Amino acid sequence: MVAISAPRPWWEGLGEGVNCYSERAFYFMSILVTGGAGFIGSHLVERLLSQDKKVVVVDNFNDFYLPAYKRENISKAIQSSNLTLYEDDICDTSACQEIFEKHPVEKVIHLAAYAGVRPSIERPLLYERRLTAKGR
Ligand SMILES: NC(=O)c1ccc[n+]([C@@H]2O[C@H](COP(=O)([O-])OP(=O)(O)OC[C@H]3O[C@@H](n4cnc5c(N)ncnc54)[C@H](O)[C@@H]3O)[C@@H](O)[C@H]2O)c1
Repeated sequence: MVAISAPRPWWEGLGEGVNCYSERAFYFMSILVTGGAGFIGSHLVERLLSQDKKVVVVDNFNDFYLPAYKRENISKAIQSSNLTLYEDDICDTSACQEIFEKHPVEKVIHLAAYAGVRPSIERPLLYERRLTAKGR
């Protein structure tokens, strides 16, 4: 079992009297998209950026299909100063904890996935491990 300590409040340092409900704090909030370099995720990320949202992407660029396609998917979005990209595995709890400590996250949109049905029949253990984050 992995122990996770409570993250420090992200609004610390924003000023006296500021907390997570303050308008000022809201300005700093991000939407975290897991699998943001994937097919669906990258379109969503572009839409969020076009609405001036701050976006954090966590994607491990795995080789389920060519990682080069994923880099192409996200190539426009990474030019935005409102995007922060982490090349991390969402099963890595300490990496995730660090990300949540660094960014005030308003919402998480979870699109990291092994989306194919046929490969899940060919390699069921891979899917079982990834979906349940076992063995980590
Ligand atoms: N593509 C479609 O037409 C479609 C339709 C309906 C629903 N969906 C759903 O949307 C979700 C995303 O599908 P997609 O087509 O964008 O798939 P995709 O494979 O293109 O994207 C998934 C992304 O998640 C990343 N990822 C996978 N495991 C990860 C992990 N452990 N840590 C970090 N990143 C990880 C991959 O690198 C990839 O970039 C899935 O749940 C899928 O079922 C897709």
